[in-house]
Amino acid sequence: MNGPDFPPKNLVLIGFMGCGKSTVGRELHRRLHYPLVDTDHEIEARAGMPIKEIFAGAGGEPEFRGMETQLLRELVAGVDADGGDRRIVSTGGGICGSAENRGLLRRLGYVVWLHAPVEVIIERTSKNQERPLLNTGDPAARIRTLMKEREPLYRETAHLDIDTSGLDFKEISVGILESARYFFTSRL
Ligand code: S3P
Repeated sequence: MNGPDFPPKNLVLIGFMGCGKSTVGRELHRRLHYPLVDTDHEIEARAGMPIKEIFAGAGGEPEFRGMETQLLRELVAGVDADGGDRRIVSTGGGICGSAENRGLLRRLGYVVWLHAPVEVIIERTSKNQERPLLNTGDPAARIRTLMKEREPLYRETAHLDIDTSGLDFKEISVGILESARYFFTSRL
């Protein structure tokens, strides 16, 4: 499954906060040995500060969104340049918010939407206070609203969607690899 020619392009993970993108990204990296790009981490490294400080700064959330788009453009330029960029790209939960980003994500590679029921997301995200969008009096209400807004955007962007409830991150990763292999070989 993980021979040198698989997969010919990037594997891209999208989905709501707390759906497991980072964990699954690390597992795919462990299995395939492709470089892992976590867009949140890359943006924090470039800005020299955590995401919550970017949101709190003068540029606010728009500055962060601009950095996300810029990073996607650069990653897509890498694909276009050599036609065979091979990375695992794990993204932030709001990256599908702009039409440009949705187009870039699909050009970047095989896009997998990881999702889970809203109660699971509420439970998982309650353990981490680093997400500025959930830093409100009622994070559960914010999650419900954002999930409703974003679901059609994830659906429109993804080549594959996986309901992660009841699966562990290894099972999810194997499912992604099987499906991606089929996707890529049927297009060769
Ligand atoms: C965001 C999700 C976060 C991070 C930022 C904004 C969002 O990433 O990009 O806090 O808009 O949903 P995770 O999905 O990795 O938590």
